[in-house]
Amino acid sequence: MASSLSRLSISTFTLGLAVLVLAYTSSAVSKTCSGRCSAATFKDVLPASARVVSAVAVPKGGSYGEGSANVAYPTIPPDLPELCALIVNVSTSAISNYRFGVYLPTEWNSRFLAVGNGGFSGGINWLDMAAGVRYGNAVVSTDTGHNSTMADVTWALHNQERKKDFGYRAIHGSVEMGKAMTRAYYEKEIAYSYYSGASTGGRQGLKETQLSPDSFDGMLIGAPAWYTSHLQPWTTKVATFNLPVSDKKHIDPSLFPVVGAEVIKQCDELDGVKDGIVSRPDLCKFKPNSLLCDATGAKASACLNEEQAMTVLNIYSDWYADGRLAMPGLEPGSESQWALLRGPDPNPFGDAYIQNFLYDDPSWNWKTQFNDSVVWQADAADPGNCTASNYDLSPFKKHGGKILMYHGAADGLIPQRSSDLFYQRVADVMGGVSSLQSWFRYFVVPGMEHVTGTAMDAPWYFAGAGSHGVLGKAIFSTPGFVDTRHDALLALMAWVENGTAVDEIVATIWKDSTDLSAGVMRQRPICPYPKVQTYLGKGDTDRPESFVCK
Ligand SMILES: *[C@@H]1O[C@H](CO)[C@@H](O)[C@H](O)[C@H]1NC(C)=O
Ligand SMILES: *[C@@H]1O[C@H](CO)[C@@H](O)[C@H](O)[C@H]1NC(C)=O
Ligand SMILES: *[C@@H]1O[C@H](CO)[C@@H](O)[C@H](O)[C@H]1NC(C)=O
Ligand SMILES: *[C@@H]1O[C@H](CO)[C@@H](O)[C@H](O)[C@H]1NC(C)=O
Ligand SMILES: *[C@@H]1O[C@H](CO)[C@@H](O)[C@H](O)[C@H]1NC(C)=O
Repeated sequence: MASSLSRLSISTFTLGLAVLVLAYTSSAVSKTCSGRCSAATFKDVLPASARVVSAVAVPKGGSYGEGSANVAYPTIPPDLPELCALIVNVSTSAISNYRFGVYLPTEWNSRFLAVGNGGFSGGINWLDMAAGVRYGNAVVSTDTGHNSTMADVTWALHNQERKKDFGYRAIHGSVEMGKAMTRAYYEKEIAYSYYSGASTGGRQGLKETQLSPDSFDGMLIGAPAWYTSHLQPWTTKVATFNLPVSDKKHIDPSLFPVVGAEVIKQCDELDGVKDGIVSRPDLCKFKPNSLLCDATGAKASACLNEEQAMTVLNIYSDWYADGRLAMPGLEPGSESQWALLRGPDPNPFGDAYIQNFLYDDPSWNWKTQFNDSVVWQADAADPGNCTASNYDLSPFKKHGGKILMYHGAADGLIPQRSSDLFYQRVADVMGGVSSLQSWFRYFVVPGMEHVTGTAMDAPWYFAGAGSHGVLGKAIFSTPGFVDTRHDALLALMAWVENGTAVDEIVATIWKDSTDLSAGVMRQRPICPYPKVQTYLGKGDTDRPESFVCK
């Protein structure tokens, strides 16, 4: 395959050329795009259950999305390359259907990319598709079979078919049909297929690869919600550590920053750099004693009683239900994102799953009906077969597939240690951690919250799923650093296509994430487990050269 990534290195040249071409064709769309961008092009490759409901030729610089009709992903990405935008509707049973979106760029790099969703969001993820199409990839995204915001799970009630669409059917069908449509449109084979998704998106990718190991050659998996049947009940469990609000053990959210500051005080320097970033939470043996109300130095207005101190320790602890590990706990350093611990009731990610997915009983009430056996009932039932717990990925490895997985250590929604657990379990059935290095590498990102962002000024951006939108609507790759060192998707492509193993990825944080012209604040390498980001002992701690993976 001709290297189409060389396009990137001569981008200044092509930009000039593009301006010329644009001037020449004005707002018109080129012949490939307008001529073939219609339902007729795809009629022979789609099954009877699928129908193209929209085909729009988008000119270079145009925008395409659904706006407020897409409650999960209303943002319409602007400044697109010239492309054909399609929506396909697929019937999966008498009571269920899903839709998927496709972007087919006129200037195609012969690659296919599927992107994922977040939470229980029911909508086509146009913004992540836009991030993907700017490389020249053909891109698909599914709405997962329902139409809802992120935390709404009522669509699942008494509908086992929709649960399956969300679990695995919508992503699988979208990938299969998306590929067929890509081949039909260009009348050419796809050279390489990729996946990029975080949170629910991470789960979708792992699930698809467990059921269909030949779907992807490379997968970029962020903070995966892979352990659905455990993660969702844990979401209720972790909330009960801090409920009811009237209990002595309850910690008001106004005190979370007090806990967070004490964690930084105790554990910041364990990694050898005093920078306000807890880079080694795995070494942090947090002791809340210094926050006790009678401790010397504790502020009377911002201190904890003994029961509250126990709540803090519970939040960091692994959950053993009926004596068995049910779910790892949150890391010290995640306090800035303790969203699951606020309010008078558990988060809907927990309760609404138990009501609508597990028991089909909206009257189920955590106050009187939650107990530790709920997680084992969920484990046994796994409604929709959402959980991506087939750890034997040999068929994917045999296919030649590569995985880059990452998880922010300050994630307050999905415990980072649940990714440790997945990686360890795959290692256990596939010859140990060292033998995974040739095809599956796992990066812990110090100070990064769930999928995006940081409260510790930690470098967290490397063009992972869902991250471009934090910087802007028309972001491509890692702005200013469009290369395999700073962009995890490009790194993955180089690993798959050239065999260049990913020994580190440089993460970036800017001084102002909404005005990148203010400049870079800090860059550091993130490292493949079991290596960790290690300061050399001298040099600027804002520069990646001052660190190695060890
Ligand atoms: C999804 O719901 C919104 C509002 O609730 C509606 O405007 C939109 O048409 C729906 N989309 C689909 C594909 O049914
Ligand atoms: C999609 O197909 C389902 C039937 O499977 C139908 O009920 C629905 O109206 C269709 N939606 C669109 C947008 O065509
Ligand atoms: C725990 O709760 C579930 C559902 O709320 C219920 O089915 C089960 O009987 C309870 N188990 C125990 C041991 O109380
Ligand atoms: C559920 O998904 C797993 C892969 O994660 C697969 O091995 C299993 O066969 C599926 N189970 C059913 C009942 O479809
Ligand atoms: C593979 O290596 C060639 C030669 O160095 C380079 O031009 C190309 O961009 C690389 N491919 C990827 C996907 O990085």
